[in-house]
Amino acid sequence: MRISASLHLAAVATMFFALHSLPSRAQDVALTPPMGWNSWNYFAEKVDDQGVRAAADAIVASGMREAGYIYVNIDDTWEGQRDSNGVLHTNSKFPDMKVLADYVHSKGLKIGIYSSPGRRTCAGYEGSLGHEEQDAQLYASWGIDYLKYDLCSFIPDVMEKQAPNDPPAQMRLMRAAYAKMAKALKATGRPIVFSLCQAGMDAVWEWAPSVGGNLWRTTADIQPNMYSIYANMSLQAGLDSYAGPGHWNDPDMLEVGNGELTLAENRSHFSMWAMLAAPLLAGNDLPHMKPEIRDILINRDVIAIDQDKLGKQGSRAYVDGEVEVWTRHLAGGALALAVLNTGDTRYSTHPFHLRLSRLGLHGPLKAKELWNGKEMELSEGMPLEMTIHDVLLLRIAEPR
Ligand code: GLA
Repeated sequence: MRISASLHLAAVATMFFALHSLPSRAQDVALTPPMGWNSWNYFAEKVDDQGVRAAADAIVASGMREAGYIYVNIDDTWEGQRDSNGVLHTNSKFPDMKVLADYVHSKGLKIGIYSSPGRRTCAGYEGSLGHEEQDAQLYASWGIDYLKYDLCSFIPDVMEKQAPNDPPAQMRLMRAAYAKMAKALKATGRPIVFSLCQAGMDAVWEWAPSVGGNLWRTTADIQPNMYSIYANMSLQAGLDSYAGPGHWNDPDMLEVGNGELTLAENRSHFSMWAMLAAPLLAGNDLPHMKPEIRDILINRDVIAIDQDKLGKQGSRAYVDGEVEVWTRHLAGGALALAVLNTGDTRYSTHPFHLRLSRLGLHGPLKAKELWNGKEMELSEGMPLEMTIHDVLLLRIAEPR
């Protein structure tokens, strides 16, 4: 009896220590997909202190903060040189990062930054190689809340140099580099979201949480056109089981409001990122966005799909030619349903017929159309007329 009790105690103690030695960062932050803004997709190298302040101001003025957009993320090109002590300084576009972080925090927002495990970032600026702990401490001293860590020159600087012609060894070096920065961030004691960026190499979704990642890019860089948006979306099919509270697949930042995207395309892009439980990081020029773009970004019903507490990423239920049907299970037993027309307009001569039976559902079913707020009734085989690249996004409170 005593032996089994002490064995039991030992087992509990082992479990306790095992749990507490796990990379616990993932438990602390990003319990729903991070929301905010990132400078890269629109401003790229033109980002500067004034632009970041203006973005923070616009997040507040536009109602985006109230809708959940919290992170103001500075991407590449803020980095200056290291001094003789190895301390990294900002370049002239960012006179004082601490003062800027204080400004962003004073708006009730959080601030993010960018680096690389290599010597150089993707845009050729100073990376963190050999200075990981020092950089993590620097970020924490500024009040940074989010780090995007982009592989970039780590490939030639370390992987190809230290393990030439040995891809498995190269991948181990890559994973170790991410784990190293996660550890350095954790050691600061500051909760910092850790975003991995390496285009999905080596099935990153399978190991990113184990090296402390809260989100990980699964694709190449997004562009503001539907080929790129659909391509990144398609690459998420089958990855739903890897996402959950604290750890998310990242099909890249939003292009809503960028390039020549039509309103239907912007709606589709935003809808699908919500279905995918993707981070919602706006990538447009916030101070100058049109009201109709703001309305897309702050649609509460669509954001609620993305931010659903269950954290279950949607999956592609079936494809019928150019039309795709995706579903996402929501907390409380509700279901989100997206019908996406990736091809030509479907007129009344050849509407799309929704097959509820292929989703395991039976009509009639009540649903809410999330882009116009109207209630509708779904029935087996019902015809849907859809214009090119548009989406029908529905919430079904009681699917059956
Ligand atoms: C890579 C990333 C982009 C951006 C740039 C910055 O291409 O994938 O999102 O961060 O680097 O140089």
